[in-house]
Amino acid sequence: MKLCVIGTGYVGLVTGACFSDLGYHVVCVDIDEEKLSVLARGDVPFYEPGLSDILRRNVREKRLRFSSNTMESVQEAETVFICVGTPEGPSGEADLRYVLGVAGEIGKSLNGYKVIVVKSTVPVGTNEKVRRTIAKEAPDADFDVVSNPEFLREGAAVKDFQNPDRIVVGARTERARASMARLYKSLTRATRPLMLTTPENAEVIKYASNAMLAARISFVNELSHLCEAVGADIKEVAKGMGLDDRIGVRFLSAGAGYGGSCFPKDVRALAQTMEQHGTASNFLRAIDYINERQKRSLVPKLKKLLPELDGRRIAIWGLSFKPRTSDVRNSAALTVAMQLQDEYADVVVFDPEAMDEARKVLPQVTYARDAYAALDGADALIVCTEWDEFRVPDFERMKRLMRGAIVVDGRNILDPGEVRALGFQYVGIGR
Ligand code: UGA
Repeated sequence: MKLCVIGTGYVGLVTGACFSDLGYHVVCVDIDEEKLSVLARGDVPFYEPGLSDILRRNVREKRLRFSSNTMESVQEAETVFICVGTPEGPSGEADLRYVLGVAGEIGKSLNGYKVIVVKSTVPVGTNEKVRRTIAKEAPDADFDVVSNPEFLREGAAVKDFQNPDRIVVGARTERARASMARLYKSLTRATRPLMLTTPENAEVIKYASNAMLAARISFVNELSHLCEAVGADIKEVAKGMGLDDRIGVRFLSAGAGYGGSCFPKDVRALAQTMEQHGTASNFLRAIDYINERQKRSLVPKLKKLLPELDGRRIAIWGLSFKPRTSDVRNSAALTVAMQLQDEYADVVVFDPEAMDEARKVLPQVTYARDAYAALDGADALIVCTEWDEFRVPDFERMKRLMRGAIVVDGRNILDPGEVRALGFQYVGIGR
């Protein structure tokens, strides 16, 4: 089977590279020629464990190529994936201009039966819009549009592609269902089923899954305030809750809030969709509100111990929105750094992978060469991302380097008792 993947962003590139690794012939299409030449050399423009090996191997073995010619690439393929972005519009809605633009181009290119797979995260009803857009360009063409939302996580994308919890396919015809089942055959097991359903269900499943995970995070973050007020520890509380099989421990870590390109945008887009359909959701709005407040809660915690930040040197460990990625979109660290700058603090940052990305949006801070260099002369440290290398730091070295002895642990990765015993003032989240 020959595949065409349109859009070489995160989802497109992982999809294209991993399908080629399963033996399919894949062409990845993008309008950005410069990016295509980087990819054709086998270089991945962002940090994602394992992806560049897969890319190089399949480029070398000629199963994976890159092109800017949409028409030719669509015509050669049996299955075409739409993997372009759905950025946030002015009212929080998903902006469908790229998805529908690509649909129009596909319509102009159709030369025989094809399955058009929408992988971009799109609001319910978009599958039908894509179908109509294609049909308008090609009224007599034979094609199916399928909804196949992506559930992979940044930092674990390759693993998630190869071992999905589930594959959701929303299709209307038997022909499209059979084609998708064949495509995913080698990834489907009894324990990780291919769920066949309608396009509307598939579209709602995607947003509902992200909103549910975001809800869990906002729930523990909300409870963390109670824990602080009464001397309880949210980590223990979450552990105790999670021991109930029905609840489970995952996605119950309180911290500086969720970030990234998905949760914040998807929660707001689902809220917007619900408003559009006359079913406005206070619940979804609250998830978002709690998260935004949480991201802004670290600097006030610091100020309780260090009220005047003007001229103080504050170190930040971690810039990415989570470990094992270079992505800084909507990361708590950016919010923290900007708040500190508003208070005229001198901000020094370190991240193992995300400094190049951060420089583009945060030019005014000092970028340290390693975690300890960031601490040199610092009055306080704020941990914003739970990279493994921050979990067991050399506290003696930290004390020698820092001018002050304040640690704000925005991810609850340090042991408060141990840190305090070493002479630091420690403040975490909900503990
Ligand atoms: C998320 C979903 O987990 C994927 O299934 C989905 O495919 C993806 O969005 C998407 O829609 O594209 P991702 O954004 O890569 O994946 O990140 P997650 O690993 O889910 O983490 C999101 C944020 O939640 C991070 O900032 C993380 O630090 C935070 N988080 C996570 C917490 O604050 N507490 C937790 O317990 C778990």
